[in-house]
Amino acid sequence: MSSHIMVFDSGIGGTTVFEHIQQHLPNANYSYFMDNALLPYGEQGKQTIIKRLCALVEFIEQRNLAVDILVIACNTASTSALDVLRQFTTIPIVGVVPAIKPAAELSTTHHIALLATPATIVSDYTKKLITTHSASTTVHLYSSVRLVALAEQGFYKHNIDQVALSNELQALAIDPRVDILVLGCTHFPILATAISSFYQGRIGTIDSGSAIAKRVMSIQKEQVESAIAGNKKPLQCYATASTFNNQLLGSDINQVDLTLYEKS
Ligand code: DGL
Repeated sequence: MSSHIMVFDSGIGGTTVFEHIQQHLPNANYSYFMDNALLPYGEQGKQTIIKRLCALVEFIEQRNLAVDILVIACNTASTSALDVLRQFTTIPIVGVVPAIKPAAELSTTHHIALLATPATIVSDYTKKLITTHSASTTVHLYSSVRLVALAEQGFYKHNIDQVALSNELQALAIDPRVDILVLGCTHFPILATAISSFYQGRIGTIDSGSAIAKRVMSIQKEQVESAIAGNKKPLQCYATASTFNNQLLGSDINQVDLTLYEKS
């Protein structure tokens, strides 16, 4: 039987990770859960995020969803709650965290930038990631919630607001020595082409999507052998608030009140 892989994010950002995983494992059963009632997670406190993720696990268990792998396709949620969440459930969890290590290896100027949400930037997890993986590289930190909103809007409208994006990047004023920009939020790959053209090729971008797909594959080896491209199953979608047209990637969205699964 095919595995059930659930991809979680606060909004549509996790679709950028889901696409990578689905390319490698087209036969798996997928569900996508977005906690858009609390979007943006980047402005939430650590305890709130932990509570929501524990509620998500409670929801999975109470509904007997038989999730084989839970992918936390949200840097903010992973850097805030991974450690606690892993103690709370036996479901294997793959967390998306900023690609600091490969960025530091790629940089020739030894100056990289991390662009993420405010919560990711201030998290202890991120600080540790930086100290562990970028000893001889300076990591410049930038946060934005505006870019999350622009990615959401661009996703649903199939059109990115270039002027608003340029204004935000202008305001962020990334250090001119930076040659690699880590897209440390799963919403940002949606804007990657537009971001690259803003910097006219001076800055390369990197995200964690492909590394996460490889990690999921390493847990699901038997799926790779039997993979037949094009044999995709319908996506089960859940959201905690209504969305643009209550559809995601062509599937209807089931609305869930996650507060019912929260423990006080
Ligand atoms: N997609 C989420 C991330 O990777 C954050 C978006 C939000 O702030 O809700 O951090």
